[in-house]
Amino acid sequence: MRHLLSTHDLALSDALAILDTAEEMAAVTDREVKKLPALRGRTVVNLFFEDSTRTRISFEAAAKRLSADVINFAAKGSSVSKGESLKDTAQTLEAMSADAVVVRHGASGAPQQLANSGWIDAVVINAGDGTHEHPTQALLDAFTMRRHWAKLHGVPSTGSDLRGMRVAIVGDVLHSRVARSNVWLLKTLGASVTLVAPPTLLPLGVRSWPVEVSYDLDRTLAAGVDAVMMLRVQGERMNAAFFPSEREYSRRWGFDDGRLASLDTLGLKDTIVMHPGPMNRGLEISSAAADSPRSTVLEQVRNGVAVRMAALYLLLSGGSRHSSENHPAAS
Ligand code: CP
Repeated sequence: MRHLLSTHDLALSDALAILDTAEEMAAVTDREVKKLPALRGRTVVNLFFEDSTRTRISFEAAAKRLSADVINFAAKGSSVSKGESLKDTAQTLEAMSADAVVVRHGASGAPQQLANSGWIDAVVINAGDGTHEHPTQALLDAFTMRRHWAKLHGVPSTGSDLRGMRVAIVGDVLHSRVARSNVWLLKTLGASVTLVAPPTLLPLGVRSWPVEVSYDLDRTLAAGVDAVMMLRVQGERMNAAFFPSEREYSRRWGFDDGRLASLDTLGLKDTIVMHPGPMNRGLEISSAAADSPRSTVLEQVRNGVAVRMAALYLLLSGGSRHSSENHPAAS
């Protein structure tokens, strides 16, 4: 694995290596060891052309906990406003000794372009590109699901996949790179996925994806589900023609207080409620659901640091997590 660009192209062995290494990283940070020396002397550049709270800060925390130096670049306030291209921006940052470039861009395919064009030699990690993919979000989501699934079945998380797990991904699938990355990764890990959305918020071609498709959230819940992943309604990418009224959307596809209560009625006592954030409270998810004991929203954020530590470590330390003298457990 030279770059981390998508989950579509991520082999099961690489996905499990990241998830298992993240378990080690989490074990280290849970024991309150603040820093590991594994990436001392390496430089990670956060190259963000779109806004972010969780992903950018999480990559920064992950890199710093591995003792890497971090350079944060935001397009706002940079020479991008003067027309500087992605290529020139990336080469400028690489000239400052970047070993890894973590890129978020509004254009689908921008990280692939950066990785495959020969413009730079650095490792490229996709932190979200247009409506295409957000692989580290899917990996942290899978890490979170795997911990719950393994606990439920009394098995260790490490080495496990998600065979048998039923996941509903609900809402604005059309604009969601999180949904796409989750669909591919969950399939690789053996989970079954149902996409639940208004017909206008499903992409053309969704019937060729390895998923079930439903327009009826209540029917999907009633059929039994182990994780419900609510998606943010992406107002900034929305064409009004696609969207039912907010009231209609919330009533039919929102995870509201009634649907939260229905999980108990349906006997789904272990079902978790996920959201990648940022949330539109009161639209796709109610505050009661977002703050309930079933919610994994903050757990996902916490797990994101361990997963991104794992990705940076594996990509920058040469790959084999068991052979390197820089292995985190040996540090
Ligand atoms: N989930 C996610 O990507 O959040 P940010 O946009 O805040 O990074």
